[in-house]
Amino acid sequence: MKALVLAGGSGTRLRPFTLTSPKQLVPVANKPVLYYVLEAIAEAGITDVGMVVGETAAEIRSAVGDGSEFGLDVTYLRQEAPLGLAHAVLIAQEFLGDDDFVMYLGDNFIIDGISGAVRHFAAERPDAQVLLTRVADPTAFGVAELDAAGRIARLEEKPAEPRSDLALVGVYLFTPAVYEAVRSIEPSARGELEITDAIQWLIDAGRDVRSTTISGYWKDTGNVTDMLEVNRSVLEGIEPHKAGFADAASELVGRVRLEAGAEVRDSRIVGPVVIGAGAVISGSYVGPYTSIGEGCRIEDSEIEFSIVQRDSHLGGVRRVQGSLIGRNVTVTPAPRIPAGNRLILGDHSKVQISS
Ligand code: G1P
Repeated sequence: MKALVLAGGSGTRLRPFTLTSPKQLVPVANKPVLYYVLEAIAEAGITDVGMVVGETAAEIRSAVGDGSEFGLDVTYLRQEAPLGLAHAVLIAQEFLGDDDFVMYLGDNFIIDGISGAVRHFAAERPDAQVLLTRVADPTAFGVAELDAAGRIARLEEKPAEPRSDLALVGVYLFTPAVYEAVRSIEPSARGELEITDAIQWLIDAGRDVRSTTISGYWKDTGNVTDMLEVNRSVLEGIEPHKAGFADAASELVGRVRLEAGAEVRDSRIVGPVVIGAGAVISGSYVGPYTSIGEGCRIEDSEIEFSIVQRDSHLGGVRRVQGSLIGRNVTVTPAPRIPAGNRLILGDHSKVQISS
């Protein structure tokens, strides 16, 4: 069995972060989402991975290399334009050969991994198997309608009026039966060859398409709240680890992961928290559910329930919370508290200001 990882696309939903970094490299607990994908594939016992890349090929390559760090053998497959997930399958056919494969979208995050699904598929070997999960806003996904026996009756890509709240998760298991399907469908209204349509084609052709419903799923919906939430749930599972240095004046409470070369001075860290390699925390408080990226400097500041990406600097700022901060960002106090409020308000406005 092989794996096909999709790491193209431009990530419009997670702007501004994806203007300077591919969406698959957005960090969760200081690790790019794509690394979790690769770890899950390795854990499922698969080693041959085709990585479909597009305009962000260079960044993906420099983050993943030949895959050996993950125990994988990664082959890069260039998709010249974002022509859809089924198009990615078409261009990967030569690499995949006669093998069954798991297709994993590199911006999807599945807390429990995919080993169970892969094992199940290998044992039963239906023509295709999809994973489903209940979501709050099905209009952003492929949506499945099940029949009374729990089989998939119909799939619809991003329907305006969804018939269920069961979304297609970005992990699909296929036999080579999928190639006839991806060759038979037409581009959708958004001009892409949709994998959803290819699976519907298999269903219409009477092929055996199964589904499993999972929980613990996240994808980049562009929503900061969701992202903080997935970061929180991953931090929930970390073990304390102290490879870095904390001085005697500092206190590390609960599950704190202090990476090698990180330094904590005169500070209080209340886990679960990860502090990346080379980060320096001084005279500060870092509270629960916070990821501080590599090389960050947090000085004389307070922060909790936040993500700070690598090489950023917080100096002299009080209580930053629920925040998502990019790379190389500087946050410092305004030079002075403004003496007055300058307001430009439209008719019927209602504002609350501190006075
Ligand atoms: C794609 C699929 C969609 C699926 C989703 C999961 O959407 O087309 O059916 O639910 O991935 O991540 P896209 O990310 O292209 O919007």
